[in-house]
Amino acid sequence: MKPGTGLWFLLFVSLCFTVKSKCSKGCELALASYYVWPESNLTFIGQVLGSDPDTIVSYNKEKVPDKDRVQAFIRVNVPFSCDCIRGEFLGHEFLYNVSRGNTYELIAETYYANLTTIEALTHFNSYDPNNVPDTAQLNVTVNCSCGNSDISKDYGLFITFPIREEDSLLSIAANESIDAQLLQRYNEGVDFGRGSGFAFVPGKDASSSYRPLNASSGLAGGVIAGIVVAAIAVLILAGGIYIYFFRKKKADTKLLPAYEDQSSHDGRGITGITIDKSVEFSYEELAQATNDFNLASKIGQGGFGAVYYAELRGEKAAIKKMDMQASKEFLAELRVLTRVHHLNLVRLIGYCVEGSLFLVYEYIENGNLSEHLRGSGREPLPWSTRVQIALDSARGLEYIHEHTVPVYIHRDIKSANILIDKNFHGKVADFGLTKLTEVGSTSLQTRLVGTFGYMPPEYAQYGDVSPKVDVYAFGVVVYELISSKEAVVKGSSLAESKGLVALFEDVLNQPDPREDLCKLVDPRLGDNYPIDAVRKMAQLAKACTHENPQLRPSMRSIVVALMTLSSSTEDWDIGSFYDNQVLVNLMSGR
Ligand SMILES: Nc1ncnc2c1ncn2[C@@H]1O[C@H](COP(=O)(O)OP(=O)(O)OP(=O)(O)O)[C@@H](O)[C@H]1O
Ligand SMILES: [Mg+2]
Repeated sequence: MKPGTGLWFLLFVSLCFTVKSKCSKGCELALASYYVWPESNLTFIGQVLGSDPDTIVSYNKEKVPDKDRVQAFIRVNVPFSCDCIRGEFLGHEFLYNVSRGNTYELIAETYYANLTTIEALTHFNSYDPNNVPDTAQLNVTVNCSCGNSDISKDYGLFITFPIREEDSLLSIAANESIDAQLLQRYNEGVDFGRGSGFAFVPGKDASSSYRPLNASSGLAGGVIAGIVVAAIAVLILAGGIYIYFFRKKKADTKLLPAYEDQSSHDGRGITGITIDKSVEFSYEELAQATNDFNLASKIGQGGFGAVYYAELRGEKAAIKKMDMQASKEFLAELRVLTRVHHLNLVRLIGYCVEGSLFLVYEYIENGNLSEHLRGSGREPLPWSTRVQIALDSARGLEYIHEHTVPVYIHRDIKSANILIDKNFHGKVADFGLTKLTEVGSTSLQTRLVGTFGYMPPEYAQYGDVSPKVDVYAFGVVVYELISSKEAVVKGSSLAESKGLVALFEDVLNQPDPREDLCKLVDPRLGDNYPIDAVRKMAQLAKACTHENPQLRPSMRSIVVALMTLSSSTEDWDIGSFYDNQVLVNLMSGR
């Protein structure tokens, strides 16, 4: 290394840090728009947001004349200090003491009225979101804004405003007496009609007036721009030197993008948090990590290509080498997919489009569900783990059906596409793939997606696609969890092969299915299963695999039903997982 290079490198590193920093200073005051839910009151709201009823009233004089009586279904503004957190983003970290039965969903969506998100709770706390201890204290992060002098110096106090279904740009602008265009400029890219996510809206202080931007609060846009331009200039120079001297070194100091701003895809993410958005990998990097896609690194082969194990930038990854090339539309779709994050979805870390198309996924340690149910050398999964895996997979599917933008239908749900992590939680793999192959296929005919035994009749016969296609396949997976049998149970001749759905239905349609149902339960479970719970799971699977897609439950109601089954010994309300009353009556009459 030439003399002085070390100095340049230090400068480079420190500049990287400067550019990465998104704030240097917060501001004294921001407001949180809290949507009052029926059983809440100002004492509770004050408790969770570090305020008190009197202070809250002072910011909401017109709406809340009496601190002991606050109307439900209105919004109140709650003051809080807006800090620059770790130099990365503007926000406030509240501490929340967990009580019995609390879930991240309840805390984010009800107790914090969508001012934070489940993803943020997962990111900023190290607990297993499915199992948060009753004694835990959580960091609850709420974003904020201190204004932007490039847009207007007239506003320096901002409300963090969770967008609700009934909101629109015009309605918010009218309610807050702000020009709609200005509001949109403050919230570039935010779709106010989306019914989720949040916006920053200029707000009034306790004396009911707008506060002008305080020059010293936060960093003004122009200052940031200046710093960034200067930093980039030096960075290019230093970067050139860095590349010259260090290129041959392994790039293992880079971090994989672990958590990105999700606001652009599901509107529920926390804005302002960016760790590393580099989702494109070079072929060289992937080849090096897999020893030139050596057979020894290969972990599997599927319908789209081969899968390899790799260690990339210090993290374990699974690289899927697709038998196809990427097109432009494909790339756009891929970028969207890298932004979909959920604990029960296998994360797409990035991709490479040099030569073939490569998809880089997080590596899931413990194989797929099919192997656990039927592979040799695996311990049988205990009953409770099977219920947990069903719930995990249902949560992953519910997320892509209802919370992503755009929403996805998986279309290839099967036990091989449910991966098991080291804690025996399930994660849905390959969502979005079928859509990808349709948008961007250049070298391959769009294959008939789906796997025999998992396809519902309306899809197999007429190609009708709806989320209920996934619900059906999920039902088959539940039957697999009960029996460990394959989706198609092979007989000695083709004519003797039978679908798992038909096999279970024959039994479940009997007046008293108990005895024959026991015969279908995985023999490796021995007697270690509660027959009632098995029966409920089978009923759920039966509802999921109903011939009429409209009579199948939604993934959301399946999640609710499975949560009840996994968390309590209470009676399971059969009706709870049906969306259709006719079917409820039919089932209860059985
Ligand atoms: N992210 C991952 N981490 C660990 N193993 C993986 C990962 N993705 C895939 N695998 C393993 O690689 C194997 C092949 O996966 P692949 O998705 O290509 O095929 P498949 O799931 O059998 O069929 P399909 O192409 O219909 O999805 C699977 O058995 C799976 O266990
Ligand atoms: Mg797969």
